[in-house]
Amino acid sequence: MASENTVKGIYAGVDVGSLATKSVIIRDGEITGHAIIPSGHNSEESGLTALAQALNNAGLERSDVTHIVSTGYGRITASYATKTVTEITCHAKGANYLFPNVRTIIDIGGQDCKAIRVDPDGTVADFAMNDKCAAGTGRFLEVMAGVFKVPLAQLGELALEAEAIVPMSSTCTVFVESETISLLARGEKPKNIQAGIHHSIALRIAGLFSRVGIRSDVYFSGGVAKNKGMRKALEEVLKVTIVEPVFDPQLTGALGAAVLAEGIGAKAQKRALEAVSAQ
Ligand SMILES: Nc1ncnc2c1ncn2[C@@H]1O[C@H](COP(=O)(O)OP(=O)(O)OP(=O)(O)O)[C@@H](O)[C@H]1O
Ligand SMILES: [Mg+2]
Repeated sequence: MASENTVKGIYAGVDVGSLATKSVIIRDGEITGHAIIPSGHNSEESGLTALAQALNNAGLERSDVTHIVSTGYGRITASYATKTVTEITCHAKGANYLFPNVRTIIDIGGQDCKAIRVDPDGTVADFAMNDKCAAGTGRFLEVMAGVFKVPLAQLGELALEAEAIVPMSSTCTVFVESETISLLARGEKPKNIQAGIHHSIALRIAGLFSRVGIRSDVYFSGGVAKNKGMRKALEEVLKVTIVEPVFDPQLTGALGAAVLAEGIGAKAQKRALEAVSAQ
């Protein structure tokens, strides 16, 4: 946040994820604009569109931006970026910017989930990741919202009303889908099955933490962090309290990228000052 050490200038982060592209603008140490759009087939175009929308949201022009850092699966094709950085590093930096006491991050995105342990300066100490199957990801929850014919944004809220948690015998997306259909046919209450689905994802995340370990404070990052049912299931299964979000958690990676862009600006400003004082 802004202080006497604030780096002056305008910096941007762009996170081209598998499902959504996000951008955050930092101006003089403060978040000043942001945007979230669906990722298209062309990563470069998605990144540029999200960046333009975030700049528009901030009332700024592309030419105002000093440095841009790109992240996410589409980061490599970001010719507009000064630097590309991995998503894990960016989630850690973004969470550290918002909550300096965070030591553990759970990131659930569209296509993968990650358990990240961070040091006090926001660098990654360790991580574990599941990118092999859809179970335990936003995509899985989207499929399940389709099965229940409810909007994705409501699925977690409905699970919060459960009277009991129906254990799911499978973790594979395809099997959970057919298991859900049979449970519904047997008359099981949808909200109890929905709670069971969120718990099955939380159990998978718990598996990732068996190696990485969990330390307080714990932060939930990524688009799925907007799902309150998922948050509750994680708190119950991992036996932790997750910090209340103060900024859209889906933007955490883009925010971290903007913070890293600001770091590049800070180094450049320091070098310029040193050059002047050496004259
Ligand atoms: N309001 C909401 N409620 C519940 N879930 C949501 C909401 N908005 C977005 N999501 C979930 O967020 C997911 C996208 O999150 P995110 O943008 O972090 O993924 P991504 O970065 O594109 O994916 P990845 O990191 O795996 O490449 C979607 O799959 C969707 O399930
Ligand atoms: Mg992501």
